[in-house]
Amino acid sequence: VSASRLAHLLGRPPLSGATYSAAEITARGNAVVLLEQRRLPGVETYVTCRTSTEVAWAIRDMVVRGAPAIGIAAAYGLAIASVDESEAGAFLPYLRALGDELVAARPTAVNLAWAVRRMVHAGERVAHAPGPDRFRALCAEAESIHREDVLACRAMGARGAALFGSGVTVLTHCNAGALATGGYGTALGLVRALHHEGKLARVLADETRPYWQGARLTAWELSRDGIPVEVLTDGMAGHFMRRGDVSAVVVGADRVARNGDVANKIGTYGLAVLAKHHGLPFYVVAPDSTLDPETPRGDAIVIEERSSDEVVRVGDKLMVPEGVRARHPAFDVTPRELVTAIITESAVHRPGDGVEVLPAASR
Ligand code: MRU
Repeated sequence: VSASRLAHLLGRPPLSGATYSAAEITARGNAVVLLEQRRLPGVETYVTCRTSTEVAWAIRDMVVRGAPAIGIAAAYGLAIASVDESEAGAFLPYLRALGDELVAARPTAVNLAWAVRRMVHAGERVAHAPGPDRFRALCAEAESIHREDVLACRAMGARGAALFGSGVTVLTHCNAGALATGGYGTALGLVRALHHEGKLARVLADETRPYWQGARLTAWELSRDGIPVEVLTDGMAGHFMRRGDVSAVVVGADRVARNGDVANKIGTYGLAVLAKHHGLPFYVVAPDSTLDPETPRGDAIVIEERSSDEVVRVGDKLMVPEGVRARHPAFDVTPRELVTAIITESAVHRPGDGVEVLPAASR
């Protein structure tokens, strides 16, 4: 869906950040066109995926990243795959196999499996329809997943902003913005709402090693929207909290377990511990699709391990002695007792209270 089509679907124009979001997943001529996030902020270019397998590659290789965005990309991937004229009996096994390939691309963000499941269910409903009808139905489902995500982000933003007074400095980690979602963002949706309501002083964005999502992506999309942002190296948060320069930590999530433990970008757990020490609220902003009723606790969440190379090199430059390897868990788990609230489109959960955190549909 292009930005203008999205505006049409939403009945009003999206905030400008959405123009550069995963909303650039553009179903153009049976292709999924993705903003090449690895080259930001220097180069704005697009990658065209013509098959679902190419979308799986784009997710694995971080062309598109962020939990809701990879779910949406996968949904469009299955939509373009369903143009295939295979006979009714072959369609579902084909769709399921492609779905499995997409889900395997990145294991931690539950939105990916959630979106694929929705697409497969949509496929089951039209399995015996003529090919063009199947294609139309799956495109419509992908667009619904996308549109619902943007609406959820706006609802989370409004709900979250209502928890704040004025003059707020938000510290955030990674990128949970328009780029990581269908547009607008989760944590950065809350930031956008605060800015819109005149409550925001500034955003402090952790650079987020080793992929630099904070420095490259958060700073890029916020500065484009005229939202005041400064970048911190990952070790600076405690210093600024101690000086009283931070009002709250606000992050997204890749998966929330039923007990309220939260998996998010590596480094999030340390921020939550620091926030607790300094008496600061620690908010997680995530759509219902990130809440995983199948996972009882955080220790059951699979943490993606990425390559040592992504840590030891910055561009072409080797930053550690030849032959030394680095550890690279891409995510960590923040236990629920460190989480002030999880803000979704349908509720504000306070997991420290010990109540299960479930999406609206299963409550
Ligand atoms: O490895 P990434 O860039 O996909 O990690 C992204 C995050 O950890 C985000 O905080 C999370 O997906 C929420 S995005 C709204």
